[in-house]
Amino acid sequence: MTTEKVTVKTFLKMKQRGEKIAVLTAYDFFTAKILDEIGIDSILVGDSANMVFYGAKDTLSISMDQMIYHTRAVSSAVKRALVIGDMPFLSYQTSVSDAILNAGRFLKEGGAHGVKIEGGMEMKDTVKRLIEVGIPVMGHIGMTPQSIEKFGGYSVQGKDEKKAEYLLESAKILEDVGCFSIVLECIPRELAKKITSSLKIPTIGIGAGLDCDGQVLVVNDILGLYEEFKPKFVRRYAELAKEIRKACKNFIDDVKTKKYPSEEESY
Ligand code: KIV
Repeated sequence: MTTEKVTVKTFLKMKQRGEKIAVLTAYDFFTAKILDEIGIDSILVGDSANMVFYGAKDTLSISMDQMIYHTRAVSSAVKRALVIGDMPFLSYQTSVSDAILNAGRFLKEGGAHGVKIEGGMEMKDTVKRLIEVGIPVMGHIGMTPQSIEKFGGYSVQGKDEKKAEYLLESAKILEDVGCFSIVLECIPRELAKKITSSLKIPTIGIGAGLDCDGQVLVVNDILGLYEEFKPKFVRRYAELAKEIRKACKNFIDDVKTKKYPSEEESY
């Protein structure tokens, strides 16, 4: 791992070198500090915070203020990784000027290095303007969680030819208007491979197979902290919810049985 700061240009160079890009979400200072220290390339302050931090059923209701609060906590901890702020539902779909003002807040108040917005070719004018005013944009296509009501649930996108064509075209248009990378969420592996090889900018997959240029996962999912549901693509690297239960249960038992505090833990 180099100590060199990761920028949007680093993303491009990594793709050119065939070096995979590792991205995780984070929502607080100390998680971000750990991820940054161990060499994560980028931290996404995802609107998934609404589910894994606030306990909501989907991402829709998180506000700009909440997202800025989490982004500021994360960027205060980060020295090396690229910090991306995830623009919440209706903070950019309403007009290009809303998009600029809200995206600008992620950089000015949140300390992020760029923003992520959901949507395909229909977002091209917004993306273009954001980049023109100096805000790097990561695209996000496929199973875009802010459209969950339109999709009627979480499901793999791009299985039929028409939808696959739309996603491929969208990816090309998002690249043309200046996105520095694109998240591909829950699409067939072969389609993700085709999109990845058609673009110069890196694709970051989540449930999109091994051929993407990088992978992103929600940190609470891989740590086993979020137990509500586990999509097929999530690999659990730890079972922290179980560990927390065990540790805190031990504390309760020690208090009840007067085993805590000991003489050494008293003044
Ligand atoms: O909100 C989020 O965490 C995301 C990803 C996991 C891509 O958008």
